[in-house]
Amino acid sequence: MADVPDPRLQRLDSTNERALLGGGAERIKKQHDAGKLTARERIDLLLDPGSFVELDRFVLHRCNDFNMDRDRIPGDGVVTGYGTVDGRKTFVFAQDFTVLGGSLGAAYAQKICKVMDLAMKVGAPVIGLNDSGGARIQEGVESLAGYADIFLRNTLASGVVPQISAIMGPCAGGAVYSPAITDFILMVENTSYMFITGPDVIKAVTHEEVTKEALGGASTHGSKSGVAHMSAPDDRACLAQVRELLSFVPSNNHEDPPFKATKDPAEREIPALDTLVPVESNRPYDIKEVITPIVDDGHFFEIQPDYAANIVIGFARVGGRSVGIVANQPAVLAGCLDVDSSMKAARFVRFCDCFNIPLLTFVDVPGFLPGTAQEYGGIIKHGAKLLYAFAEATVPKITIITRKAYGGAYDVMSSKHLRGDINLAWPTAEIAVMGPDGAVNIVYRNEIAKSADPAGTKAKFVEEYRAKFANPFKAAELGFIDEVIHPRVTRQRIHRALELLRDKRVQNPPKKHGNIPL
Ligand code: HXC
Repeated sequence: MADVPDPRLQRLDSTNERALLGGGAERIKKQHDAGKLTARERIDLLLDPGSFVELDRFVLHRCNDFNMDRDRIPGDGVVTGYGTVDGRKTFVFAQDFTVLGGSLGAAYAQKICKVMDLAMKVGAPVIGLNDSGGARIQEGVESLAGYADIFLRNTLASGVVPQISAIMGPCAGGAVYSPAITDFILMVENTSYMFITGPDVIKAVTHEEVTKEALGGASTHGSKSGVAHMSAPDDRACLAQVRELLSFVPSNNHEDPPFKATKDPAEREIPALDTLVPVESNRPYDIKEVITPIVDDGHFFEIQPDYAANIVIGFARVGGRSVGIVANQPAVLAGCLDVDSSMKAARFVRFCDCFNIPLLTFVDVPGFLPGTAQEYGGIIKHGAKLLYAFAEATVPKITIITRKAYGGAYDVMSSKHLRGDINLAWPTAEIAVMGPDGAVNIVYRNEIAKSADPAGTKAKFVEEYRAKFANPFKAAELGFIDEVIHPRVTRQRIHRALELLRDKRVQNPPKKHGNIPL
């Protein structure tokens, strides 16, 4: 009787078919026409081929208001499950805009919570692919409850498993707060946006006119607000970025980051670094010209490149080991620390510390940016965030001072005093309370004023100060710098330090949690 189809199998097949079609061919076409992939296509690109195991494909919403009983699609508008990325376990949920605009109701939220709970049990990252009209209006407070259930899990998972949000369509209202709690936000240019209130409401309340793109598109959040960490031209590129980001981080807070073998010799010398720092102390140079040749295969995965560019952050590897890099950028605002750069770097330092990623810090900082805008903007508390983040970090900390390390900024930038493990300086380093000009103006004010040749007298004092203080040797005498090195051996020294610190174990005093100046 093999030719009589088994109705039980038929039911499975037909339900599967309905689920796979989501909101139907017409809506899928609309999604494609908008330049967006479907939830399932995105998952296929994110995970290793054939590795996806779907959960809850047959879940239905339980809402009967607003004729919703006629609109029940298996899966309820979000595709959830697990698979692998580069062979490593990864959980995923992908919101399906073709089903009720990807809007979130109670059953939908339960599906997301289920994968988050599983991810916490087994210690694996959660990737959220967001494309949703937000709270499902028809489900009222149940959808708000669903969001809150997710927010709670995001918070509890923070620092336990990596959480990454890709914004691949609308993300509005309180819905933005789940991504905001996660570790990284990636946005697709021109097809995604995030805001707590859209242009219509803004116009009604403040009479301000703004487009969706200007309000909350990828470039706004990548350069103005700092909400997004990366952007990509399309869905495919965005998902490739997520995969690459995962390659630098461990699956959970108990693991070390994955090792990636390289043919790039770990002890390779870089002669070009010997002449990279300009002789004139005020001439800018690009710190990425220091970072790139030092890291494996010259590959630096920069994060937030267009936001607070006076500090550079990102991941790379040295000798196959992941490092989180924080570097002042003398080419922008002379590398000064300000409100935005302090917050940008502080959050990154804390991410690395959560997930056992050694910190590699390059220092060339004339100090904190002065001015009323900074003071009124709270530079005191925001600068303190970076100080706090470096101080509390217990991962291996390697610091290289390439040029200026002045004032409080010297202390902040992973100095020996904040438990820097290996602190190196190039001979071009200038470590002092302030730069020669400012210092001489204060210390020798009277002498300069009384002199027959004030300019010449000042120049003499500046030269004296520079010779005495604007160098790394005093700090090296005091043991605040472990070694003054030739720039060409920087990669070699970093590699040795990483090997040395592989089994570093330091614990902060037991406490519920610290009180970082938020
Ligand atoms: C129910 C929704 C929906 C929602 C969209 N749809 N958003 N259904 N609840 N929140 C449905 C639409 O009715 C439509 O159904 C389908 O999804 C596609 O939507 P369109 O409007 O045709 O698509 P588009 O023109 O691309 O516009 C997308 C959009 C717009 C910009 C997202 O739909 C929109 O503004 N939606 C409302 C956004 C919003 O205000 N959400 C609530 C935010 S408050 P049909 O059947 O006609 O195709 C919030 C609170 C979170 O989220 C609380 C956390 C604390």
